[in-house]
Amino acid sequence: LVLDWRLTLLLFVSVAPVTLYSVTRCSKQLRNVTQKRLESENQVATIFSETLSRIAVVQLFSSSRRSSGFEEQNRSNYKAEMKMLRSKNKMVRSVEIGTAVGTGLVFWFGARQVLERNMSPGDLIVFVSYLRTLFKPVRRVATLIAQTSRVRVSAERIMQLLKTEPEIRDAPDAIVAPGFRGHVEFVGVSFGYEPGWLALRDISFKVHAGQTVAVTGLSGSGKSTLTSLIPRLYDPATGAVLIDGEDLRRYQLSSLRNQIAVVPQSPMLFGSTIIENITYGADSFDREAVHRATRLAHADEFIDKLPKGYETVLGERGKGLSAGQRQRIAIARALWRDAPIVILDEPTTGLDAVAEGYVLAAIENLLRNRTAFVITHRPSTMRKADLILVLEAGTLVEFGTFDQLFRAKTRLRQLCELQLSHAGIDKNTMDLQWTGSL
Ligand SMILES: Nc1ncnc2c1ncn2[C@@H]1O[C@H](COP(=O)(O)OP(=O)(O)OP(=O)(O)O)[C@@H](O)[C@H]1O
Ligand SMILES: [Mg+2]
Repeated sequence: LVLDWRLTLLLFVSVAPVTLYSVTRCSKQLRNVTQKRLESENQVATIFSETLSRIAVVQLFSSSRRSSGFEEQNRSNYKAEMKMLRSKNKMVRSVEIGTAVGTGLVFWFGARQVLERNMSPGDLIVFVSYLRTLFKPVRRVATLIAQTSRVRVSAERIMQLLKTEPEIRDAPDAIVAPGFRGHVEFVGVSFGYEPGWLALRDISFKVHAGQTVAVTGLSGSGKSTLTSLIPRLYDPATGAVLIDGEDLRRYQLSSLRNQIAVVPQSPMLFGSTIIENITYGADSFDREAVHRATRLAHADEFIDKLPKGYETVLGERGKGLSAGQRQRIAIARALWRDAPIVILDEPTTGLDAVAEGYVLAAIENLLRNRTAFVITHRPSTMRKADLILVLEAGTLVEFGTFDQLFRAKTRLRQLCELQLSHAGIDKNTMDLQWTGSL
């Protein structure tokens, strides 16, 4: 018994600390490589989904040359995975070695005791067989630790994500916005997505309630950025955006955004019924109001023809509808919300002439009695607007009515000419008859 006790002590003093030390060290290392591995897996998934969403373009250019970024990322993902597996196996191995050395030590010490006749061979054999039973759970614990490290890293990432606070928040003393009349003003607004570079520089202009503003300029000039400041998706770095004379930051976000309807370039539709898409976010609604909105949006014509009508379930992102129909649903949504301020981002891009005609008619109904910002390249849409705002590299270069701006050598004139020649339109088209002489 005394011998058993000494053997046990030997075991704990020699083997346990070494094993414990190597397990903790390995598990820390394992966590690190697991984190790297998950990050690289993430990268691969990003590239993969991007490529898939652009598959049409990829096919169009028949890229037999596969995306080199993908292969590279895949390779580094493979390396990360191997590193993780190696580190996991290292831990399991060190436990194996620890137990083996422990058994060896016990044997060596025990054998000497047997030779000195302090212990019977039977006792030693019993002790060693007990030892094996003892080591089994130790090995299991090591494998478990290896498995939990992955769970732990994943959980940490989820917690990080949950902890990120939105940058735009209500001020503590924010007020509920009253019903807007629709007066919008930019006062010396500058804004940049990244430090050291401004997407908008010192922009000032005033729009009265009910006016339609056409926002135009080359790609990347800041049109979408400018309009995204109105529902306060971002705050200006300097200057202020005012609605009805109050800084947006004074209003509670939800009460502000409730009064602004946005029709984006490619509308966000959800995989639910048409009526749920139109009344998105509302707990209850009046069916008659929805029908009024779809009538004005020229959407009732095709919805009524669908076998299930308003209960038709759309595919993901509105699959099952044409681009023009999706756009009319988005306009119906804006009409149904009856917001005093609307923003349309190139609402007719990519539509053929027939679809465009319907959408333009729907837009005309939407603009009535509302303050509207319409991002557009179409000279005819600009002509119908009350005001035109021309952006160039984040700066407001021209602001005024079509008649004021459509003169020789203005930026607007150049942009219109560029647009028309781009579309292959010659001087006899309707657009040109509208715009007068070109
Ligand atoms: N989320 C973003 N993060 C960083 N930079 C951005 C972001 N969105 C836009 N930008 C940059 O800000 C500038 C203005 O972009 P914006 O989208 O406002 O241009 P745009 O006039 O709407 O162009 P387009 O006609 O192509 O839609 C561009 O240089 C663009 O690269
Ligand atoms: Mg844009």
